[in-house]
Amino acid sequence: MVNLDDKFPSISDLAAAAKRRIPHFAWEYLDSGTTADAAMTANRAALDRIRLLPRVLKGEQEPDLGTTLFGQRYDAPIGMAPVGMTGVMWPGAELMLADTARRGGVPYCLSTVAAKTPEQVGPVAGDMGWFQLYPPRSHDLMRDVLSRAWNSGMKVLVLTVDIPRPSRRERQRRAGLSIQAGVSRQMLSHVARRPAWALATLRHGNATLATIAKYAGTQDLAGVRKYFVNEFSHNPSLAYLEALRAEWKGALVVKGVLHPEDALIAERAGADAVWLSNHGGRQFDAAPAAITALPPVVQALGGRLPVLFDSGIRYGGDIARAIALGADFCFAGRPFLYGAAAAGQAGADQALHILTDDLRNSMAQFGAQTLTDLRRPGAILMEA
Ligand code: FNR
Repeated sequence: MVNLDDKFPSISDLAAAAKRRIPHFAWEYLDSGTTADAAMTANRAALDRIRLLPRVLKGEQEPDLGTTLFGQRYDAPIGMAPVGMTGVMWPGAELMLADTARRGGVPYCLSTVAAKTPEQVGPVAGDMGWFQLYPPRSHDLMRDVLSRAWNSGMKVLVLTVDIPRPSRRERQRRAGLSIQAGVSRQMLSHVARRPAWALATLRHGNATLATIAKYAGTQDLAGVRKYFVNEFSHNPSLAYLEALRAEWKGALVVKGVLHPEDALIAERAGADAVWLSNHGGRQFDAAPAAITALPPVVQALGGRLPVLFDSGIRYGGDIARAIALGADFCFAGRPFLYGAAAAGQAGADQALHILTDDLRNSMAQFGAQTLTDLRRPGAILMEA
């Protein structure tokens, strides 16, 4: 049997295999940022600049990666960020990732625009299932989506607030993928060569459109699609967040915060955590590297709310860096999809293994027994 640690020792090995295996438009959708990919590149560069000063002579140590968030025990401080159109990158990827997450004891956050429903994913994810909401304008539609997530066992809700409108995503357009225009001719020609994708994409589209049609007030495909884009390309207000807070009984996380003032606003509106992110560099190319924006947000919240972090994590050492800078929990988006697209369920498992094993290694190298030990004063050095 092939040892996956030899075949795919790093996330970039999984990415290279994914690129070979999946249609070009699906790869470009997964891998791209926006505009010049500058924010995406900055995420990595900024993480690489953070140096942690290790301590030695600490005797035998077995790092403990476990942590508690919203009263739930997790085996490691790394979760799977919501990724939309998931089934287009690998048919059935949501169920694979949810299964990896449940066995690994880490959260799996299902996207509003995934290819599987909360009812399908909930039982697979078990206690590890979270749900991400793109805020629909219609409160009836919002309540319907929320009750489906809750009844499927997802008790943590993530409200994504950093998509005021769809970003330009030039690489995706070049590859023939345009969400607003629906399925383009180039995309169809890619899909035609891969029947599994044709099926997954169509099923995804049909399931989503059938759910939305009852609110759109039309069965006409173009009309439903227009309604869908308009409903979800929505920049929610503070009042919207407050209404959602009143509606949702579980933990509520606000995702896509970079400014400390916005973290405080989320806190005042009753959020249970703030998720610091620049959406993996996919929305605003002039945005700062997410890790650069982390310390001011941590300072503003002063430990009153947990801070979740994503954007650019590719190594366990990045998780150690973010936690050293004050994050309580980290997430990764692309790495788990690279894994599933490279080698199915085993690839998803391998992505989680790479990140957790390297975190264990980083903690041992740094001289940290627990995640809290990573916050050792004076240990963070920044390279110019
Ligand atoms: C995303 N992201 C995202 N976020 C969200 O709240 N809802 C969504 O549906 C999606 N969809 C999505 C699709 C794809 C292909 C990617 C790569 C990302 C953002 C995601 O949750 C997360 O913030 C970033 O992926 C983090 O950056 P890394 O880990 O990919 O560098």
